[in-house]
Amino acid sequence: MPRAAVCRPAPARCRKEIMSDSFDVIVIGAGPGGYVCAIRAAQLGMKVACVEKRATLGGTCLNVGCIPSKALLQSSEHFEEAMHKLADHGVNVGQVSLDLAKMQARKAEVVAANVKGIEFLFRKNKVTWLKGEGRIVAPGKVEVAGTAYDAKHIVIASGSESIPLPGVEVDEKVVVSSTGALELDRVPGHLVVIGGGVIGLELGSVWRRLGAEVTVVEYLDRLVPGMDNEIARTFERVLGKQGFRFRLKTKVTGARREADGVTLTVEPAAGGAAEEIKADVVLVAIGRRAFTEGLGLDAVGVATDERGRVKVDGRFATNIPGIFAIGDAIAGPMLAHKAEEEGVAVAEILAGQHAHLDYNTVPGVVYTWPEVAAIGETEEQLKQRGVAYKVGKFPFTANGRARAMGDMDGFVKILADKETDRLLGAHIIGPDAGTLIAEIAIAMEFGASAEDVARTCHAHPSLNEAVKEAALAVDGRPLHI
Ligand code: FAD
Ligand code: NAI
Repeated sequence: MPRAAVCRPAPARCRKEIMSDSFDVIVIGAGPGGYVCAIRAAQLGMKVACVEKRATLGGTCLNVGCIPSKALLQSSEHFEEAMHKLADHGVNVGQVSLDLAKMQARKAEVVAANVKGIEFLFRKNKVTWLKGEGRIVAPGKVEVAGTAYDAKHIVIASGSESIPLPGVEVDEKVVVSSTGALELDRVPGHLVVIGGGVIGLELGSVWRRLGAEVTVVEYLDRLVPGMDNEIARTFERVLGKQGFRFRLKTKVTGARREADGVTLTVEPAAGGAAEEIKADVVLVAIGRRAFTEGLGLDAVGVATDERGRVKVDGRFATNIPGIFAIGDAIAGPMLAHKAEEEGVAVAEILAGQHAHLDYNTVPGVVYTWPEVAAIGETEEQLKQRGVAYKVGKFPFTANGRARAMGDMDGFVKILADKETDRLLGAHIIGPDAGTLIAEIAIAMEFGASAEDVARTCHAHPSLNEAVKEAALAVDGRPLHI
């Protein structure tokens, strides 16, 4: 480009072009749904802006969700290994001590690098970041910090927030949500987690590994509702061996702040005598709900469902032409990769392409150790649908690599159609289950049978061989058990 054509310093004409207030797409929210949608739309040649009110991009996931929790899970796993596991491998490390401030500082660095990465991607793809709270004032019009911007299409990607528990007020210091639980500056003596779901078990694992006693109070009679029951039972047993205490079928009916912590009142879910549990810190993790406050949905007439989620059709369109929605703000699993796939799909739809997301092949992973991973249907769901199915299971105790690693808890379970052998689901508890499940995701995307997986050559010795063996077991012919 000839030097004269470069706008430096920007003359009025160029400035106007940069500050243009009309876009093909305005995405509201820069979480994994919104930022991915913005990037994909820009790749497809659209002029894109993304509105984000937080000081950094990346949404819940990068700032206070997936990334900081995985950083602390990784660090705390190293601590636990050094404390309790390395000696089994003949590695003596002497006295191990915890520098929690450094662990937290590292986590902050990991988050900072990730969120800055999204800023770089926005610059690279020429996505304009409109800083501030976005409000839809009319179809095709979004107001941010007092300025109105026009858009041919608006994509709502405003995410979710923690569900509060009446009577247990979160102050993010002693009674915390996941956000406060990621920021603790000391290891609590006794952490009580309300909710035996994904957040409770991941963050409960972090603090248990670092030295806290952890009690999980769960309303239902099982952990991780929605996951395969057999996996959930094994999960409960394995976490119990690690030191977790579980109070299932129990509800919290009150919380009293004391000088040195909190006293919770709990009762059997079915009714009965109340008792008290004393905690240094309480983590409330009873689920998340769509966040749409301040978006102006009522004024524009965008319909929401009974749980406050934006209603969309199969093409992510709301009832108002030109307004779309994705991610945690709509129905479906509240997962970053689900939000991302929807972001890509809606951008491609806006570009006139065909896009489709098969929700049955969205994997779910709990990043504890062992990890838990799931895809497709559970046995309970198949029974409920009246589908005839076959089960193949293989334990990690019979996998050479797992033995070499010293990580033998868990098993792989594969469910296939009884008639056609087509894969219907897979459920894994074990080392690196979250990585292992990707193989099944690809197989299911291609409509593969259990026999297809069983006949695929898997490297030896690898954890993936347990997947192959479970697939062989579907036909009653595992080789190593
Ligand atoms: P979000 O990431 O919530 O982003 C929405 C963004 O919109 C926010 O930044 C918000 O500030 C912004 N916003 C909202 N309204 C406005 C407005 N009016 N104007 C401007 N900006 C607005 N999922 C996984 O798949 N794997 C994990 O390991 C995982 N770990 C998690 C750990 C924790 C502790 C938590 C809390 C969640 C975790 N999740 C995980 C879930 C994951 O974070 C969410 O599913 C994902 O972030 C949803 O993406 P989203 O883009 O829909 O919304
Ligand atoms: P969750 O829905 O996974 O679990 C909530 C648990 O709380 C359930 O077991 C429920 O039965 C229980 N519960 C509800 N009300 C209760 C009460 N009053 N008393 C006791 N127990 C009660 O929700 P969670 O753990 O808060 O996570 C929110 C979302 O964030 C999830 O949908 C999850 O998908 C996402 N997430 C995903 C992660 C991952 O993919 N690894 C990690 C963390 C969060």
